[in-house]
Amino acid sequence: MDISGTTPTIADLYARSLNVLESLRAQGVRGEHARRQSPRFSITRVAELVGRTSAAIREAEKDGRLPSVERTTSGRRIGYTLAEINQMRLVFNTRPWRTEEDPLSIIAVQNFKGGVGKSTLAVHLAQYLAIRGYRVCLIDCDSQGSTTALFGYVPDLDIGENDTLYPFFRNPETTSLAYAVRETHWDGLYLVPANLKLYSSEYELAARVARAQPNLLNRLAEGIASIGDHFDVIILDPPPALGTISLSVMRAANALIVPIPPTVVDFTSTTTFLAMLYETMLTLEERHLPINLRWMRLVATRADEQKSMQRELLGLIRNLFGDMLLRTVLKDSAEIDNASARLMSVYDLEQPVTSRETYQRCLTYLNGVNAEVETQIRLTWPSQAGRLRAEGIL
Ligand SMILES: Nc1ncnc2c1ncn2[C@@H]1O[C@H](COP(=O)(O)OP(=O)(O)OP(=O)(O)O)[C@@H](O)[C@H]1O
Ligand SMILES: [Mg+2]
Repeated sequence: MDISGTTPTIADLYARSLNVLESLRAQGVRGEHARRQSPRFSITRVAELVGRTSAAIREAEKDGRLPSVERTTSGRRIGYTLAEINQMRLVFNTRPWRTEEDPLSIIAVQNFKGGVGKSTLAVHLAQYLAIRGYRVCLIDCDSQGSTTALFGYVPDLDIGENDTLYPFFRNPETTSLAYAVRETHWDGLYLVPANLKLYSSEYELAARVARAQPNLLNRLAEGIASIGDHFDVIILDPPPALGTISLSVMRAANALIVPIPPTVVDFTSTTTFLAMLYETMLTLEERHLPINLRWMRLVATRADEQKSMQRELLGLIRNLFGDMLLRTVLKDSAEIDNASARLMSVYDLEQPVTSRETYQRCLTYLNGVNAEVETQIRLTWPSQAGRLRAEGIL
């Protein structure tokens, strides 16, 4: 490439790409973040989510314990927002929040292989848990900002470096991560966004860690501790590489989800990931920075069961990992592709982009995976023991 100026330079190409993103936003493909709203829920779904009957909810609306719900001009209920559902949970005392004795869940969705569905899983898990009433903070630790984008932001246009983890990694005198935590259009779900600038942290941290400051690998854990009291679950979406940010993520996490697509290449790199993880754990332990995981699960993602090779490999993975592999398989779905092309999650979609059947099937996989993770979280909370026993899980 001619960098003297007759053909485009890399900087030009970057500037042009940003222009394209800007015009996509202008055409409403991105949808203004400020105008984003979470979907509304029907009374039947609300009753199930709140843990009270529709009759009990209507009764509370009538006697003024709950505000009366908005109606269309023809008198039909518009449906309930997540904020309204959370208000009901408060009134009926059915919030699923952890108690003080229950440890904050800090879940890393990690595999050093790129494109295995980490960000997709992290975003859908965070939104699922928010719908279930948990207080969740999703931290985008990847300078690619895919998770940030799925909330309707164009990371390099809408997010400044001071909105990300970057200043926290950089300035030892910053003691709280609260500056970076922002609301999302999902009530109870907060986001620490990322943009390209976070990539600088990778080098800066690596240089400082190498200059005998290994404790900097604790920085993310410290940031999480500074905001942890406000949340039940923290979800970390790391970059697809073993760098200082990924090490900081592993050090901060107390649970790990490893997505693996059932292909030979992905299985090979997951095996490498497990080997590297083991080595890393030993090295960090030697430096008195142990990784302490309460649980770890693998999950098959992007699976296409039409392909016999994938079916075979899936069987093999299941035999190999047993209960460590989540029962639900997150299959490849056009609905996920379609939602992400709109910079949305499948939970954001009010109606199917493809067909109702494809959409419902996709929701079934997503809800299945997320419900299994929710159970893992609750198993770490002593206050849940009674309920888990009643549900036959313990
Ligand atoms: N189950 C699925 N069905 C269809 N498409 C999927 C599925 N899971 C992920 N994808 C698509 O695959 C691409 C990569 O997914 P994603 O960004 O979640 O992977 P990642 O592991 O976070 O990647 P990276 O390593 O770059 O961070 C995205 O375009 C996403 O929409
Ligand atoms: Mg990602």
